[in-house]
This record gives sequence, C-alpha cells and structure tokens, in this order.
Amino acid sequence: MNDKGIVVTGGASGLGLATCKLLASRGARVAIIDADQNKLEAALKEIRIATAFPPIGVAGDIALRNEAFALIDRIFKDLGRIDGVVNCAGVYPRRPILEISDEDWDYDWRVNVRGTYNIMAAAVSVMRRQQLDQSGVRGRVVNISSVDAFKAHPKNAHYAATKAAVVSLTRSFALEFAPEQILVNAVAPAAIATEKARAAGFIPELAAQTPLGRAAEPDDIAEWIAFMLSSANRYMTGETAIISGGYIFA
Ligand SMILES: NC(=O)c1ccc[n+]([C@@H]2O[C@H](COP(=O)([O-])OP(=O)(O)OC[C@H]3O[C@@H](n4cnc5c(N)ncnc54)[C@H](O)[C@@H]3O)[C@@H](O)[C@H]2O)c1
Repeated sequence: MNDKGIVVTGGASGLGLATCKLLASRGARVAIIDADQNKLEAALKEIRIATAFPPIGVAGDIALRNEAFALIDRIFKDLGRIDGVVNCAGVYPRRPILEISDEDWDYDWRVNVRGTYNIMAAAVSVMRRQQLDQSGVRGRVVNISSVDAFKAHPKNAHYAATKAAVVSLTRSFALEFAPEQILVNAVAPAAIATEKARAAGFIPELAAQTPLGRAAEPDDIAEWIAFMLSSANRYMTGETAIISGGYIFA
C-alpha cells in the first residue's frame, strides 16, 4: 500500500475505521469521507497514531451527487492521485418484511445505492485521467456489499435488496471501465462485530449460525479490502467476494 492515496467512505467508524487503520499502517495515504463530524475527528486522531502521513478527513453526505463529486475533487487536489476508493458508508436498520415503509426504502437506498454510485462515479472520473500505476492499473474500487445479497435473513429485505444492487453496480462499473484498467470489486461480509452491529443485536444469532463459530472482527474483512486495493490485485474485476466464515453455505 506504500504511498497509495486511498479514500474510505464511512471511515469514521466500524469496518471503515478498521480499514483506514490497516491501510495507514501499511503506508497508504488515507482520506476519509463521513457524514458524522464528531466521529470523523476522533477517527483522524486514532489513525494518526498508526501512520507517518497525516490522514485527511472531510465531512459530507455521499447521497448527494454534487457533494460527492466536490468531496472527491477536494481529496484529489490534496492527495495528487486517487489509487483506490472503499465504499464503506452504509446503513442497516432492520424491519419485518411487511412493515417496510416508503421512508425505510428511501433511507437505505439513498446511502447504500445512490451514495455508492455517486462516489464511484466521482472517483472513476478522476481515476481515468491518471497514469497507469506500476502494476498497470489506473485505479481500484472496493464496494461493501453483504452476504444478505445472496442469503435471506429475517427483517432485512430492504437492506438485502440494496446490497444486491451494490453487486450489480460493481459489475456495471467493472465492465464499463475495464478498458481503462480501472478495477471494481466488492466484498460481501456476513456479521462483523462493529459497535453499530453489536447495538443492532444480530451478532449472537448470526455467530451461532456460522461454521467458524464467531462473527468477523473488522480486521478479518479489512484484509480482503486491502488485497483488492493492492498492486497484487491485477486481474480481479467485477467480482464480489463473500467472506462469511462459512455462513453462506451453512
Ligand atoms: N457490521 C456488519 O455486521 C456488516 C455486515 C455486512 C456488511 N456491512 C456493511 O459494512 C459497512 C460498514 O458497517 P459498520 O458496521 O462498520 O457501520 P457503521 O455505522 O459503524 O459505519 C458506517 C459509517 O458510514 C457513515 N455514513 C452513513 N451514511 C453516510 C452518508 N450518507 N454519507 C457519508 N457517510 C455516511 C456513518 O457516519 C458511519 O461512520 C456498511 O456498508 C454495512 O452495510 C456490515
């Protein structure tokens, strides 16, 4: 990751923060986009401990197209190059399948799908103007989907649909930008023991259904994100890696 400029949305907490710390500890120059200003400031302090390069943080809402483009442009000016983007910002409130309201749909869809799309569109617009890196790639995108895109789980229908849309968007962008050597992939985790997920209450239930007997720690998933962003990944694009401790086939 040495000297790579990497943007992480939702990097102020949970999986995004763990990813920032891992990438920074391996020499990446990290920039966070997050809607939560307070968490963002705390996260920047935490990451600074792990890195020589001071992390950049910009507060903003990825669900607004103009804002997403402005955030990416601003980060590009600071970093000089965007080698990778991790679309980690996401929301996952649960609701019984027959009670999903219009507001519930809009809430999940605006962040998980529209926001992911906006940041990808903005990032790819920058990446396609860059030179190839030493591994022959112009830029790499990693989206965070969910095992729920592939396996049903109660009270999750609207969230699962947004994460299936992320799998689909990943393929569409991968196809469109493969000729320009931009790689677009996704990770689909099952339960990750983040603070938010613990509070939502589904971790024990999912851990019990997981052959490895536990939920993922954020670092278990961050390692896969790091691989997809690294120069070692030259030939994977449009793929979604399901990382579930065996939950997918149990
Ligand atoms: N935790 C799990 O069990 C689990 C499992 C599978 C997939 N995921 C996915 O992983 C990602 C991270 O989950 P987490 O548990 O770390 O959640 P989290 O709530 O800790 O982190 C999400 C971050 O996204 C930010 N965010 C939300 N809306 C935003 C917006 N409109 N613009 C900018 N930032 C915004 C939040 O402020 C927060 O810091 C999500 O996409 C989630 O769907 C989580």
